[in-house]
Parts: sequence; structure tokens; C-alpha cells
Amino acid sequence: MLSERLQSGMVRFLNSRYLSLARTDQTFLPGPRPNQQYMLYAHIPFCERLCPYCSFNRYLFQADQATSYFADLRQEMRMLAELGYDFESLYIGGGTPTVMPDELFATIDEARRLFSINEVSCETNPNHLTDEILDGLAGRVQRLSCGVQSFDDGLLRQMERYEKYGSGLEILQRVQAVHDRFTSFNIDMIFNFPSQSEEILINDLAGVLESQANQVTFYPLMASPAVAASLARTVGRVDYAREKHYYEIICEALTGGANPAFGFSSAWTFNRGEGSPASTTSANTPIIDEYIVNYEEYPAIGSGGLSYLDGSLYVNTFSLREYHAAISAGQMSLSGRTIFSPKDRMRYRFMMQLFGLSLDKLQWQQDFGCSVARGVPSEYLFFKAVGAIEYEDKTVIKLSAKGQYLMVALMREFFIGVNGVRDQARAALSSAECDLLFG
Ligand SMILES: C[S@@+](CC[C@H](N)C(=O)[O-])C[C@H]1O[C@@H](n2cnc3c(N)ncnc32)[C@H](O)[C@@H]1O
Ligand code: SF4
Repeated sequence: MLSERLQSGMVRFLNSRYLSLARTDQTFLPGPRPNQQYMLYAHIPFCERLCPYCSFNRYLFQADQATSYFADLRQEMRMLAELGYDFESLYIGGGTPTVMPDELFATIDEARRLFSINEVSCETNPNHLTDEILDGLAGRVQRLSCGVQSFDDGLLRQMERYEKYGSGLEILQRVQAVHDRFTSFNIDMIFNFPSQSEEILINDLAGVLESQANQVTFYPLMASPAVAASLARTVGRVDYAREKHYYEIICEALTGGANPAFGFSSAWTFNRGEGSPASTTSANTPIIDEYIVNYEEYPAIGSGGLSYLDGSLYVNTFSLREYHAAISAGQMSLSGRTIFSPKDRMRYRFMMQLFGLSLDKLQWQQDFGCSVARGVPSEYLFFKAVGAIEYEDKTVIKLSAKGQYLMVALMREFFIGVNGVRDQARAALSSAECDLLFG
């Protein structure tokens, strides 16, 4: 079908950009541009257990290594401050940022000392939703996100999470206890696990509704090449053919009916208490890991961080040893870069903003000096032809319900491609570090 060919063409384009990283000798990120707003992303690559499906940069937690890593991260923040950066928003992702709470708190406090931070987002895991850690986070973190994945004990066992992070019931109780301690509390779920039946999905949705979390992100399971083998061994092969049906079940349970409990915030993020599409208040802006739609430009610090700045994508080294060596030498740890052409930048904007449900045409005109239809004619016509555009006027393009699943499928492929970059970077690691990465 033409639409499928166009769709896979778009994904191939995006992936080829991401996959065509060239080695860089740059030792620093470029400085900030005047009047440009940036978010700071900090990556904490340590976990107490390595989930078999996960392609993020993560190593088995070792206290000595992590202590020195956090110190390096604070040093890298100071480098950004010296380059002239300021940030209002800090996102701490992982891995598991709360793996050493005191180090995390010191890092957030240092960020507040250096920059004009008014909002901190942070990821965690259910075993860290204890009073002690939550008390330390409250006041420092406004937006907390916790990985739940499923409330089903069988699935949690398959994901190798049951033992470390608790049973479905324990997780639900911990999540409920967080309630309103934060401006926003998100839970991450994964759908379309090979052994996830419709019944399990419906029970997971019941758990989400009971959870009291005010936001939920439902990721489609993404099997990147590096984890495909461990996935097939542990949870089985991924069947993308049923993904759309499962997505429809999720949308119906959360946003359907006369009085829906949730509304859409992005194609795979839902906000509680909003029967209508995305509100723009801070509490309801989607908190979406590295999948950032509300800040287009962001420098990333830490091993394995991906920065997008001034039309270039930069990758920090995945090696903890190289990362430490670079920071100790007073440098950043950049290992690869790809430069986006003006056309690539338009495609990237088109995808990212529509993933966030609407595209700002005025901002587009101002940034690119042309209309959307002229800048990305094939993508624009394709979205129109398949009914992915709900509404359009002089200022905005809004995604339709039909377009939402299209974005899920495009983004799933896109992030499998991003994971390909991670795989590429890992290929350069010593075998000892590779062993640590994959457990
Ligand atoms: C990378 S983790 C970091 C935070 C925390 N360690 C956790 O497990 O939630 C963030 C989220 O990414 C999602 N994720 C990781 N690997 C994935 C995959 N292969 N497919 C779909 N989602 C994935 C999970 O929902 C996870 O909660
Ligand atoms: S899903 Fe979270 S806890 Fe599991 S390995 Fe990935 S980052 Fe670590």
C-alpha cells in the first residue's frame, strides 16, 4: 500500500539520520544561542536489576562507581554553566536516578545553585517509593515518573522485575501512597508484551484507573536489535500486528465513554481528569523520558546522553571509563555527531510536534521561513491523505484520532532506530563493559 510505503519511508529517513552518526573529536557541546530556551537532561545509567527488554544505557549498580559518576555529573553541569547555559527545567532519567538518593539530592541542589531551575522531573522504580526517598524528593522534584510496566505478576516475573520491584499488588499500593506529593506523578506502562493477553491488558488498565497517578504513559513494546534475542528468550517474539488493537483498548478504557477518566496528552501519554485534548498547564505537560516534545533543544550530560542542539544530534560515550576520563580531563565525553539539514530539521519538528498532538504553524514560519506544506510536502500530504489531520487553520495543525495510532507506530520505529544508535555506541565498548551492560 502507498500509505505503508510512505510511512516506512519516513521512518527510514528518520532512522538513517540517527544511524549515520560520525565520530567527533569535539570536546565540548556548542554554547547556547541568545533567546533560545533549553532543558537540561541528565542520565543516571545504574539499575539494581537489568530488565531484558531495555535498551537504555544502564549498568548493574555498584556503589563506588555510582558515587564517582554523580560527582562527574555535577562537574559536567559546571562546564555547561561556564559555557553560558541556563535552564529552567531539569530532567533526570535513567537507568534509575534514585539508586543513590543522597547523591541525587546533592546533584539537584547543585543544579539549582548553578541555574534558574524551577521544575525538576525525575524517574524512579517502585521499590524506591518509600517515605524516606519520597521525603527527600518532595521540594526538590516536581514531576515524578515511576516505571510500573504491568500489574500482572506473571508478566512482572517474565520482565525479571517481580523479585526486585514487588508484586502487582505491592506496586499498586506504593503508587497509591504517592498520591498528591508531586505536581505531577506519572506511571510508565508497556503494552503488547508477547504473553500479554487482552484480559491482562484490561486488568492493567483497571490498575491504572485505581492507581491515583495523574498521568500514565503507555509505551508499545519496542524490540531493538540488541535486546531482540534476550526478549525472545524471556518474553517471546513481539507481534506488531496486534499493537493497534491493544492501543484501541487502552484509548477506549482511558478516554472513552461519556465521562472519561483521562484525556490525551501525547499519542501515548494520558492525563487524568481531562476529557479533552492536552491542556498546556505545567502539571499536565507530558513527562516523557528522553522523548522530549516540549523543549526541542536540550544538552544531555552523563554517559549515553543524547543532546539535540542547533540542528545537530550529539551522543556521549556509553563507556563509564571513558566518561570518567573525559570529565577528569576537564572535557565533555562526546563520541558521535550527526548534522541535520534544514529539511531534516523540519521533518523532525513535524514528527515531534504532531506526536505531542499539535503543530504550531506560526512558530514554524518564524523558524523556517516557509509554510509546513512547502517545507515538508510529502509528509504533510501523506498525513492529510490518511486522515491523520483533524483540524487546521492559520496557526495550528491538530492530529486526529486516526493519526494518533499512526504516530505511535512511527515513534515506535523511530525509537527502535534511536536504540540502534545506542547499540552502535555500545559496539565500541570493551567486552568487560558490555558484560556489565547486558548483565
Ligand atoms: C528507561 S526506563 C527508566 C526509568 C526506570 N528505570 C523504569 O524502569 O521505569 C523508562 C521507561 O522506558 C520504558 N521502556 C524501556 N524499555 C522499553 C522497551 N523496550 N519498550 C517499551 N518501553 C520501554 C519503560 O516503560 C520504562 O518505565
Ligand atoms: S527498564 Fe528501567 S529498571 Fe529496567 S533496565 Fe531499563 S532503566 Fe533499568
